[in-house]
Amino acid sequence: MDLEVVVLAAGAGTRMRSHWPKVLHTLGGRPILAHVLEAAQALEPSAIRVVIGHGAESVREAFAYAPVAFVEQPEQVGTGDAVRRAGPDFARSDWVMVLNGDVPLLCGETLQRWWGSLGESRAGLVLLTAHLDDPSGYGRILRESAGGIAGIREEKDASAAERGIGEVFTGILAARGPRLGPWLERLSDDNAQGEYYLTDIVAMAADEAGVAGFPLPDPAEALGINDRAQLAVAEAAFQRRAAQALMAGGVTLRDPARTAVYGTVHPAPDAVVDPGCQFEGEVELAEDVHIGPGCYLRDTRLGSGARIHGHSHLDGADVGPGAEVGPFARLRGESVLEEGARVGNFVETKKARLGKGVKANHLTYVGDAEVGPGANLGAGTITCNYDGHRKHKTTIGAGAFIGSAVQLVAPVTVGEGATIGAGSTISRDAPAHALTVCRSRQFTRSDWKRPEDREHRADHDQESGDRESEDRESGDKD
Ligand code: UD1
Ligand code: CA
Repeated sequence: MDLEVVVLAAGAGTRMRSHWPKVLHTLGGRPILAHVLEAAQALEPSAIRVVIGHGAESVREAFAYAPVAFVEQPEQVGTGDAVRRAGPDFARSDWVMVLNGDVPLLCGETLQRWWGSLGESRAGLVLLTAHLDDPSGYGRILRESAGGIAGIREEKDASAAERGIGEVFTGILAARGPRLGPWLERLSDDNAQGEYYLTDIVAMAADEAGVAGFPLPDPAEALGINDRAQLAVAEAAFQRRAAQALMAGGVTLRDPARTAVYGTVHPAPDAVVDPGCQFEGEVELAEDVHIGPGCYLRDTRLGSGARIHGHSHLDGADVGPGAEVGPFARLRGESVLEEGARVGNFVETKKARLGKGVKANHLTYVGDAEVGPGANLGAGTITCNYDGHRKHKTTIGAGAFIGSAVQLVAPVTVGEGATIGAGSTISRDAPAHALTVCRSRQFTRSDWKRPEDREHRADHDQESGDRESEDRESGDKD
């Protein structure tokens, strides 16, 4: 059977009160529409047509990567008109499935199961329905006394009795391709909102071709996002799912409700995540890693047994097995820590490779640098990598020892096993296995005396006298 999918994403999203098209608001760190397209792709349809209108250019741009065709709906005059814009050649497909761009929790597997069931259906139109405790805002399913579906009533057009119906339309339906076009042609905008409702084809289909309902096993998947409160509810549901998946993969989340996943986190057995951590992009955990409280990890890979202490910020880092980071460390793009390396508090790295067992324990900046295995960077070591115009590289040999408060003015190389004296500003290469010191020599004056006490008091009186006269001039009585 041939299937094509139409995704409705042209609406203004007025209830969001936003400058942005609704479908670009994010859920779990990705646009709402991305979730819907992912579910649609699970069906492997012959085509996915996305109807856009409000903010069309930005939607096109955000989804330029997606294997979908865009169709513009010039005026947002209703869901029925939106589907019609994706035509008129629906007849070439056995089925046309319509998805709402603002119903993002619907799973690909759910759609697959539903699609599987359509093979046996004799109906001309099949609706995905849900039973909700609070159906407000949704179109209600109207049934005949015999139980068959007779139509859908939009909330704004519904009588008080109809509003009491708990069975709702999810916004998602499948219609037989050859039948869909003619039904859409007959829609009118004679209703409370003056719109061409897609839902009005249900009554037509009930008369002519038979309508079936497919109830969603988990009604939570039906949540439509029309305002920010619904977005927050959907986000919470998404986060619960993400936490479940991590725990199923062997990760201990000390507090699942205080773990935020805005992207993809690959789980690993016996990884432990403390409360308040946030993950973005693609993060790979490994066995026995421990991430302390309040950490931020984005596009980062951890090796087994790595420890990230609290309040560390890792963005584009590759942390080797058994390496240790933080607390309060910042690893920026292209930071590589090899096995057992240690980066302590208030240390920042960027485009830096720290070899096996390297230690940079306190207050250090390592940028555009290659640090050989076993080297030790003392507190306050700074690679001066930027001359105001270009970036330059610092190379530190294996086993080198850099004293505290050393500036390494790049481009510069410190040889293997070299020792750099504390407080040095190193702007020329420092040879291997030797001590290099570059600071002004310390001297002592034994003939020096502190100012006499008497002299000192006179100075002080002079000073306070000046201040009093200033106060008087400014008219300050206090
Ligand atoms: C719609 C259904 C309602 C269902 C609910 C489920 C209709 C008339 N109503 O109501 O029965 O219970 O979804 O969430 O279909 N859109 C366009 N062009 C338009 C209008 C809307 O592309 O001219 C898109 C919107 O961007 C949105 C989707 O269609 O993605 C649904 O539109 P929306 O206005 O949110 O409809 P609801 O009031 O939620
Ligand atoms: Ca909606």
